[in-house]
Amino acid sequence: MKITYLGHSSLSIETKDKTLLIDPFISGNELAKEIDINTLQADYILITHAHQDHILDVEAIAKRTGAKIISNYEIVTHFGEKGIEGHPMNHGGKWTFDFGTVHYTNAIHSSSFPDGTYGGQPGGFVIETSHHRLYIAGDTALTLDMKLIPDVVGELDLAVLPVGDNFTMGIKEAIKASTFLNCNKVLGYHFDTFGYIKIDKIAAMNKFTKAKKELILLPIGGNIKI
Ligand code: NI
Ligand code: MN
Repeated sequence: MKITYLGHSSLSIETKDKTLLIDPFISGNELAKEIDINTLQADYILITHAHQDHILDVEAIAKRTGAKIISNYEIVTHFGEKGIEGHPMNHGGKWTFDFGTVHYTNAIHSSSFPDGTYGGQPGGFVIETSHHRLYIAGDTALTLDMKLIPDVVGELDLAVLPVGDNFTMGIKEAIKASTFLNCNKVLGYHFDTFGYIKIDKIAAMNKFTKAKKELILLPIGGNIKI
């Protein structure tokens, strides 16, 4: 499984033969100028919640690629009205797709569309393929619910957690989340895009090292394989 960081909370995940995009917010991100949304591949677009910094490029990419949306019922309905196909889920549910199984997990945050309409409750995802298990938290506070994930779903290979603070958990809470998740390997996201979420990356990684954990902060366009 190859995970490419596209800036902010946007990821491209290549499984054996499908490409999943997560929360594409690229054309509005000054820091992600080198990523061209017109060349991104996508078989599926997974959306954690309805905020603009998670859905901005969904419509353009879905219409060009024919990608199917996976999100909560309200978000799938919203894009369905624009003629985009989707698969609706809700918290605690799982579904097996042609690339693997997706679990829609709890998040503590909000989820309105840019025009103020209701975007359902925010969530995160566990993506399970035959060889890997990846947790993508979405925008969330630290929550005890995270303890249930390895218990119910199984051991995680990687946890993708927001680390920018202010709108989500910060570094200190992400370290605690990693303990709750029983997963010492963390990919940080939702940092640096706006003034409110700028972080000291070296200090953040050092804090994880001190806690005997690993924080990976990829450059935009950079990737890791698990
Ligand atoms: Ni948000
Ligand atoms: Mn956000």
